[in-house]
Amino acid sequence: MTIYCRGNESASGTPVPAPLNIAHRGASASAPEHTFAAYDLALDLGADYIEQDLQLTADSVLVVLHDESLDRTARGPRGWCTGRVRDRVLADLRTCDVGSWFNEAHPDRARSEYVGLRIPTLEEVLQRYGRSTRYYIETKQPEAAPGMEQHLVSLLRRFELLPASSQDWTVLIQSFSPESLRKLHTLHEALPLIQLFRRGRIPEPLDSVLEAVSGYAVGIGPSWRDVTSELVAVARRHGLAIHPYTVNEPEDMRRLLDLGVTGLFTDFPERFDCLRR
Ligand code: G3P
Ligand code: CA
Repeated sequence: MTIYCRGNESASGTPVPAPLNIAHRGASASAPEHTFAAYDLALDLGADYIEQDLQLTADSVLVVLHDESLDRTARGPRGWCTGRVRDRVLADLRTCDVGSWFNEAHPDRARSEYVGLRIPTLEEVLQRYGRSTRYYIETKQPEAAPGMEQHLVSLLRRFELLPASSQDWTVLIQSFSPESLRKLHTLHEALPLIQLFRRGRIPEPLDSVLEAVSGYAVGIGPSWRDVTSELVAVARRHGLAIHPYTVNEPEDMRRLLDLGVTGLFTDFPERFDCLRR
């Protein structure tokens, strides 16, 4: 049963108080990840942010898909809907269905309206939701997608999201790649950035690493399993937000809140929305 604690109250324009509820790939436990269905549902379920993982097509369009390969979540003509996104042009991707895999994988949560859902471009996402929500955007495999950062900043500029992002974090940009984040920092210094750390790979020495991160980023995104009181204390000392990924069990959410995280990624935004009240 879905529990609704509230409707979406987090339109941009006013700061959202911590802890932030970040819908990981949308409400991806309940609808196909990175589709409008998953984003619409996330906002209904109380998310403050909807997440976008970015890939760059062969014709340099930013699209929203987690994997660099189409194979896990896309169905459709083999010639267009398999292999790497960066080897396909947008017109190819327009033929792919990214909803049916969810029905196959989760028959208990399957819905007929998920069949035929399309891969959104980032532009379509910004167009659809405008200033009614906040965006948590990840540059994926940026080293294999030259120009990704420039395309991203120019799209945010076109949608007039840069000033609001620096003021109230309407858009947060995350990456595992410090090079990508440094590039973004150079392109637009006030853009708020989050340095992700891979699971089990919190760098040492912590104090000097986080001091360096604080030179270009406003926060860190560790795996939730790596969050300790020391990590929280050192991050706070350097003025960094702490947004662990991807936390789905209420007892883990509670433990992380008690440790002092300032937000978290979850596939179940409704669970965190109820628990953080
Ligand atoms: O961005 C936080 C989290 O989403 C990183 O993991 O693989 O789900 O993008 P992934
Ligand atoms: Ca991500």
